[in-house]
Amino acid sequence: MSTATAPNKNKATQTDFLPLHGTDYIEFYVGNAKQAAHFYKTAFGFQSLAYAGPETGMKDKVSYVIRQNKLTFVLTTPLQSDNPIADHIYKHGDGVKVLALMVDDAKSAYEETTKRGGKVYLEPTMLKDDKGEVVLSGIHTYGDTVHVFVERKNYNGVFMPGFIEWKSNYNPASTGLLYVDHCVGNVGWNQMNPWVKFYEDVMGFKNILSFDDNDISTEYSALMSKVMSNGNGYVKFPINEPAEGKKKSQVEEYLDFYNGEGVQHVAIATNNIIETVTELQSRGIEFLNIPASYYETVLDRVGEIDEDLAPLQKLGVLIDRDDEGYLLQIFSKPLEDRPTLFFEIIQRKGAQSFGKGNFKALFEALEREQDARGNL
Ligand code: FE2
Repeated sequence: MSTATAPNKNKATQTDFLPLHGTDYIEFYVGNAKQAAHFYKTAFGFQSLAYAGPETGMKDKVSYVIRQNKLTFVLTTPLQSDNPIADHIYKHGDGVKVLALMVDDAKSAYEETTKRGGKVYLEPTMLKDDKGEVVLSGIHTYGDTVHVFVERKNYNGVFMPGFIEWKSNYNPASTGLLYVDHCVGNVGWNQMNPWVKFYEDVMGFKNILSFDDNDISTEYSALMSKVMSNGNGYVKFPINEPAEGKKKSQVEEYLDFYNGEGVQHVAIATNNIIETVTELQSRGIEFLNIPASYYETVLDRVGEIDEDLAPLQKLGVLIDRDDEGYLLQIFSKPLEDRPTLFFEIIQRKGAQSFGKGNFKALFEALEREQDARGNL
């Protein structure tokens, strides 16, 4: 009965009840979307893509959509104070509300996740205009954060119905940012495993890596982390929780200032981290400072790399290696006044891991910042 035992190349996709093609967009709720859009265009090199607001029939909020390669951000602000978006900003400050995921079938994504316990955020909703139709649905995840499933296979407009093309005369050059590599959530004490189970049970993700507080601790503060990945690896969500240390965990500081669980950092891929970060720094983006001592020993740990060490040291880029190759990564300072959301810029050269070898240097750098704020 050879046919019964023949390997099936498509097995993984056949058993994946929630096939995802990657991140569709990330939506930020912000206090001033017009200024935020200008900041992300200027500093990070996004281009104007689409707009929705009173002029397009949306009376209670304004959204600007900006894009760079496969990276799409939506910046949304409320127009009145009596508005759930205003409540979100009052509670959390500026932050990520929606991690939107690309699907072929938003109705199926909704049914498969909600029947497994996903809490309804948005029932399947079809939006139509003369460019076609987009179907959206959504479920809640940690804190006030949500996943929206976006089905756009029958749409050829700029973003989605309800939005008009945003043409601008101001088009700063790209900084080489390509796509979302991973998106990290900070959750409360003892909440990592329940959220790992949520991603396993409700979304069919697998736990591909785990770090305990022995991996991620310095003299003072600690955290634990598990990395969740969907079947094809296009969507990766590490989940952090605080751990007991001599002083306050960086995750705890986040939870205090975000006023709950939420997205800690978005990691964005580049093909040339030296060029990208040089450009970002010249446009005013600040990154964590890494001490010179890190660079004295890093090559002993990671071995030979293609890049010269000097520019990496000048920029503060960290290096790590795993069985499959190496990676280069750097972490911005928080992007708003609350010490909450920040970005990671990452260039993978084979490595599929997350920079475990850099945790100590990274967290010591974070602690210096935390200490300067009086929160350590
Ligand atoms: Fe990361």
